[in-house]
Amino acid sequence: MRDRSEILKEIEKLTREYFAGRAGARFIPGKTKIPLNVPSYDWQEATEAIETLLTTWVTMGKKVQRFEEMYARYIGVPHGVMVNSGSSANLLAMSVLTNPLAPQRIRPGDEVITPAVTWVTTVYPIMQVGAVPVLVDVDLESFNISVREIEKAITKKTKAIMPVHLLGNPCDIGSIMEIARRHNLIVVEDACESTGAEINGRKVGSFGDLATFSFFFSHHITTIEGGMVMTSNDDLAELVKSLRVFGWIRDLRNRDEVAEKYRDIDSRFLFTNIGYNLRPTEVSGAFGMHQIGKLDGFIEIRRENARFWTEQLREFSDYLILYEERPGTRHVWFGYPVTVKPGAPFTRQELVTFLESKALETRPVFTGNLDEQPAMRLMKYRRHGDLPNARVVQRQSFFFANHQGIGKEEREAVVKYFREFMAGVKR
Ligand SMILES: Cc1ncc(COP(=O)(O)O)c(C=O)c1O
Repeated sequence: MRDRSEILKEIEKLTREYFAGRAGARFIPGKTKIPLNVPSYDWQEATEAIETLLTTWVTMGKKVQRFEEMYARYIGVPHGVMVNSGSSANLLAMSVLTNPLAPQRIRPGDEVITPAVTWVTTVYPIMQVGAVPVLVDVDLESFNISVREIEKAITKKTKAIMPVHLLGNPCDIGSIMEIARRHNLIVVEDACESTGAEINGRKVGSFGDLATFSFFFSHHITTIEGGMVMTSNDDLAELVKSLRVFGWIRDLRNRDEVAEKYRDIDSRFLFTNIGYNLRPTEVSGAFGMHQIGKLDGFIEIRRENARFWTEQLREFSDYLILYEERPGTRHVWFGYPVTVKPGAPFTRQELVTFLESKALETRPVFTGNLDEQPAMRLMKYRRHGDLPNARVVQRQSFFFANHQGIGKEEREAVVKYFREFMAGVKR
């Protein structure tokens, strides 16, 4: 019989061979699909995952911890706590802030300011913990929360701001932190779509009291499902770790000290808080360890694609709002967004239908105007103003695929599709 390390080497060899054989067919413009996402993992992640299964250590362990450390170093904060999704990361962040042991507690009925255009699970967790989201309009030039409107939306009940770095574009977090400081508000950055984005060389996710990331399959890097809560605050980090797993003491810094206080309870099952089970699996940690090393390379491809499209599509700027990297920032382009200007001689739907007919996959800009989503009728929230820009985003904006799998041929084909469409527009 062969020994285990030999078997593992053989598995690695076969996995490499398997993935090498996956190279795609020739790209045919207008025929070959440009999907919204393609897998960002390769033989390294698959081999590590198989090795994890074979060792049978499959629940949260050393590989998750290793990925947490690597990711925290990448973002530039001391603590990263991995969970099973970005939605769970947001739920955990809000749960920590409303927890009886929170240093600055949000109470039921308190308000949390957040953008009207985002993903639903930015906002659901605010309601799920009994707080009231206040939907604030976004800027059309960035899709991000309007800083001017934040100031106006603050009331006596406001306790926190939860900005979102949408579609890879860093929001003006410097100004938001300044507003928060003046009004003594907590800031939770939802950076689920913006892994690796920067402002003046500093990563998003390192500014707020807490920040969250997602590693869902379609994101910049993936752990299949997965997310992370980041913080620079040691006490908040302990609360995050406690609530991630049942509120037990096992992952806490001072567990021995706490155990001393409750000698009548077996410390292996000693619970000091009311938590969840939001643990990731070790397979997700195994993925993350390898994905993180590939991230900056992936981001550069997305940025190159976006630069090319913005330059080439500029000839249609009478009809389209195009998006650019703000000076001093690193935009990481979750997708490539386009807004059809109101008054253009065609509708968004006509353009989207044409692009889809060319096998270019598109999506709406997430929730559109969240205020119009029927789910919102079920819980209490407040709308700040009429949200005119969110209404425009819902009706006029969309994004199409931009990822590490898109190269020169696909990039040029996309411009050709736009030119073809525009040639058919009656001016
Ligand atoms: C802004 C934002 N927040 C939260 C999430 C939730 O992340 P997940 O899909 O990992 O639950 C997403 C998902 O894409 C998102 O875009």
